Amino acid sequence: MVKRVVSGMRPTGSLHLGHYFGVIKNWLELQKTDDCFFFVADWHALSTKYEDKLNLNKLSIDLVKTWIACGIEPEKSTIFIQSDIKEHSELYLILNMITPVSWLERNPSYKDLMEQPEFKDKNMAGFLTYPVLQTADIIMYDAEIVPIGEDQKPHIELAREIVRRFHHLFETDILKEPQSLLTEISKLSGLDGRKMSKSYNNSIYLDDDTETIWQKIRSAKTDTNRIKKTDKGDPEVCSVWEYQKIFSDEETQNDIYSQCKAGSIGCMQCKKICSQNIDKFISPIREKKNSLTDEYILEVLEKSKQKASKIAKEKMEKINKLIKG
Ligand code: TRP
Ligand code: SF4
Repeated sequence: MVKRVVSGMRPTGSLHLGHYFGVIKNWLELQKTDDCFFFVADWHALSTKYEDKLNLNKLSIDLVKTWIACGIEPEKSTIFIQSDIKEHSELYLILNMITPVSWLERNPSYKDLMEQPEFKDKNMAGFLTYPVLQTADIIMYDAEIVPIGEDQKPHIELAREIVRRFHHLFETDILKEPQSLLTEISKLSGLDGRKMSKSYNNSIYLDDDTETIWQKIRSAKTDTNRIKKTDKGDPEVCSVWEYQKIFSDEETQNDIYSQCKAGSIGCMQCKKICSQNIDKFISPIREKKNSLTDEYILEVLEKSKQKASKIAKEKMEKINKLIKG
């Protein structure tokens, strides 16, 4: 049975390895077998930093380029921009009418951000109702599966609750309750050992060049008890090892593990190998991305917009009939 898959990303700048292993990898797997809709959540991007000039169009095109460079195929998957399908805003409005504020206030990612003193967009209505727009994105296309990063899990839970409430209030069952799908290494650590995140400045980006990757790995945190090459090390406390486990082949991994423990490999040598293997992974993505033109991306978007728009129009017709009689 082919399943409907829907997922989105905000256009906030370059994607890093954490995005790749947290979300894109899932997308690539699903694309092989299922009916996937991947979209740029440009309206969601407005919930923060809306007062800066965001260049949303440019960022959106760049994001789609990165997806295609990673292997998302426009012939297989439907790739579109959220704000191109105005029905998302209509459904968002309707869902806002039936969603209790208390549900939104207890959302963990909302609470987390509210506690950060430097986060200044927290008083905006759109920030509180962010997951309602996300719910609209998902149920518009009857998504069964929503591949996401761990942090988005509560939003999918909320979407399910909103669907149930809608069904109850309007005595219907026309919507689908979505399910979230997480990847295994969705918490790829950053260069400092914390979660890889743009805001921590600890990320390796999918468009970093060879030299940048090396400079980043060179200064990455290792086993801090190791000072000389002959000091016995512990890979388990080293962030470089996290990457070796993903990017190096098994033989290299085994060699490094035992040599680190025995104090017979220097961290610089280990890092050289690591950075070369990361570059081997990133360079085809980087090159493919550079070869894609804006015109090509706009063409792709125009085609899939028509497909998404048709589904969204039909869905809204049904919903409006139900509500207005
Ligand atoms: N909130 C998601 C994020 O920040 C992006 C998003 C918007 C999304 N709408 C969605 C993800 C629908 C999955 C499904 O990553
Ligand atoms: Fe980390 Fe490699 Fe150094 Fe061991 S040798 S501490 S795995 S960088």
